[in-house]
Amino acid sequence: MNKIIENLNWRYATKEFNPTKKVSAEDLETIVEAFRLTASSFGLQPWKLFIIENQDTRNKLLEHSYYQKQVVDASHVLVFARSTANSETLVQEFVEDTAESRGVEITSLEDYKQMMLGFLGRMDESQYKIWAEKQLYIALWNLLTVLAEMEIDSCAMEGLNPAKYDETLWLTEKGFATVFALPIGYRSLKDKYADIKKVRYPTDKIFEMIG
Ligand SMILES: Cc1cc2nc3c(=O)[nH]c(=O)nc-3n(C[C@H](O)[C@H](O)[C@H](O)COP(=O)(O)O)c2cc1C
Repeated sequence: MNKIIENLNWRYATKEFNPTKKVSAEDLETIVEAFRLTASSFGLQPWKLFIIENQDTRNKLLEHSYYQKQVVDASHVLVFARSTANSETLVQEFVEDTAESRGVEITSLEDYKQMMLGFLGRMDESQYKIWAEKQLYIALWNLLTVLAEMEIDSCAMEGLNPAKYDETLWLTEKGFATVFALPIGYRSLKDKYADIKKVRYPTDKIFEMIG
């Protein structure tokens, strides 16, 4: 089996973490950089990653996570949040950053800016929110793959109360809203889910070559 497939088989949604084993600062830096490099629609990056290390804060998140113990026992909890800025603000910030990064006049990006504004402007509030959330899911799978490569365990968690997370972490004030969380760390040797067979449909059900 090649290494990519081996890593993807190694990873699983970890239910029990070893609370004594911590992810190093160096590995956290790699994880943040991998998040930063995630692709997004138009490159707009309507997001922010919050990393929670403090045990008291993670204890508070437990009741807002349907008592899923991973938030307490993992080394860190990554909270993926969407920006609550409106589309004009998002696009303006991005166009300014592009002009600076590439050393070009902002006026040269006017057509691109109008195209993005047109695309996002056709959405109502709920479609815009869903669009932003979709971008976070791209970042999620990017990190799940990178973490598998780094042999760091994780458990994606939609099973939480986003409004309560926002309240606990003061995210509304910062202009962000929780979409889901990703506790990361190292599996406990007692986690029975580590060794159960992965359930995936056979290739001929999920894949077909056309033409
Ligand atoms: C978006 C998303 C949300 C998830 N939410 C939870 C969750 O709240 N709690 C949990 O224990 N597992 C959660 N999972 C894990 C899935 O149940 C798991 O990935 C799936 O069953 C496949 O198993 P595997 O990841 O171990 O291969 C979530 C996974 C994804 C991708």
